[in-house]
Amino acid sequence: MKGVILAGGLGTRLSPLTKITNKHLLPIYDKPMIFYPIRTLVNAGIEEILLVTGGNNAGDFLRLLGNGKEFGLRELQYAYQEREGGIAEALALAEHFAEGGKIAVMLGDNIVERNIVRAVEAYRRQEAGAKILLKEVENPRDYGVAEISGDRIVGIEEKPLHPKSAYAVIGIYLYDGRVFDIVKNLTPSARGELEITDVNNAYIRMGAMTYDVLDGWWADAGSSIEGLMKVNILVYETGANRMD
Ligand code: G1P
Repeated sequence: MKGVILAGGLGTRLSPLTKITNKHLLPIYDKPMIFYPIRTLVNAGIEEILLVTGGNNAGDFLRLLGNGKEFGLRELQYAYQEREGGIAEALALAEHFAEGGKIAVMLGDNIVERNIVRAVEAYRRQEAGAKILLKEVENPRDYGVAEISGDRIVGIEEKPLHPKSAYAVIGIYLYDGRVFDIVKNLTPSARGELEITDVNNAYIRMGAMTYDVLDGWWADAGSSIEGLMKVNILVYETGANRMD
């Protein structure tokens, strides 16, 4: 399975830190933010990654990461998102890289305490469709929120005022080759972006979505300055991407 890391966007919620650099290059404890999602995918057995970025600092990723040897990657490729059109629009740039196969997509600002090995292994055995990871949170209104009935997700709402559960959809998505056709049929949301939540709801409507609940803590380091500060402390205290 190949991996795709989405690291574009303007990082406005972290301004002014992001005025002169890309959010995903900011430090999280002792490493740049982007190191963490790369490690998460590598630890799950992924050897080829496409990094999608944009904006004025795209070249810095190349200088920082080179061809990914430091992570043990067989290949690290790059794609450039020419405008801020949303997570799903960034994902569309991975179509040729994916070659019709299954992909593991991770948002560049998501950091996990442990690993996603169990979910990725289960998805390798899943014939088709998609799989997402959920985590119970105190502030579901800040995220995509899953409505669950029995062992199925029946819908996802993006940043709802009245969340139907406390389970946030974290920024790690496992998709089959159909994802690119789904993206092509999306229409922009109220904020003018192609939403990843609409992609996931399309899989739910097809009856082709499974989920797993993540072990250990999860952080979206890009959602606020306070969140960024807290995740620095979490990584300092417990480490991240642990395999135990
Ligand atoms: C995005 C998704 C949201 C998801 C979150 C996880 O939100 O739209 O569904 O819960 O990532 O990090 P963003 O942080 O880009 O606003």
